[in-house]
Amino acid sequence: MHHFFRRVARHGVVGTIKLLPTNLRYVARMLSPSAIAARRRDRDFDRRHGTITSGSIPLGAAEISGEISEHSVAHGLYYEPVPLGHFDEMMRVLPSELSNFLFIDYGSGRGRALLLASHYPFKEIIGIEFSQRLHRDAVLNLQKYRPPERICYNAKSLLLDATQFVPPPDPTVAFFNNPFDREVMSIVLQRIESVHRSQQSPVYIVYAHPYAESLLLLSAFWVRLGSGRLWSVFGRSSSSLPSGDSE
Ligand SMILES: C[S@@+](CC[C@H](N)C(=O)[O-])C[C@H]1O[C@@H](n2cnc3c(N)ncnc32)[C@H](O)[C@@H]1O
Repeated sequence: MHHFFRRVARHGVVGTIKLLPTNLRYVARMLSPSAIAARRRDRDFDRRHGTITSGSIPLGAAEISGEISEHSVAHGLYYEPVPLGHFDEMMRVLPSELSNFLFIDYGSGRGRALLLASHYPFKEIIGIEFSQRLHRDAVLNLQKYRPPERICYNAKSLLLDATQFVPPPDPTVAFFNNPFDREVMSIVLQRIESVHRSQQSPVYIVYAHPYAESLLLLSAFWVRLGSGRLWSVFGRSSSSLPSGDSE
């Protein structure tokens, strides 16, 4: 009941009624057999590794304060870890030689994608997360996660608003698991493009639940290299390279 009144206070009576179909769709999705099976796999993963990566957490409960802009919070979406099966499927589109690449997870939450990326030989793995609570969990998870498949230990979570992060010009795999809407996504993409525009270095976007992918599809900078039911992978187009050379 308390939860209901908080909702009305936030969205108004009309807003709450308008949100009803969305909320019912969410509940139906959460109760579907595939979602229940996925949550069981998530819990098994955490039990096996002593980590805390499962759960669906609204930003209202995620302790966001300090330097984070209200605009970013308003356009951010809730926490949910990347589904276990999807990650390796998306990674198969990338080149196999990744040892000079950075892996940057924009909106890294509790760090599930950072842990899964550590099975690949990245030069460095960086998570960017604006929730103190989720960032704290990610730091602990990165310490605890030590399966034999892990080969990259140069990994960290940064407590930061993704719109404030200046990407390094190195070869990069930028990972997004539906962290924010089109508005924030376009700010972050512009930053990536402006850093890489003058460089020859390869940059890939691995995008799970790609709700804002029209931004990439319509941009001359990116070309889609592969896609699945709930993901897309983009690389830079030949016209994005400074000399006009092909990648
Ligand atoms: C769907 S979760 C994905 C978590 C993780 N990448 C994974 O796949 O396991 C999206 C995350 O983005 C974070 N987020 C949303 N907007 C953000 C912003 N502007 N800066 C940093 N983190 C943000 C949320 O707090 C949430 O933890």
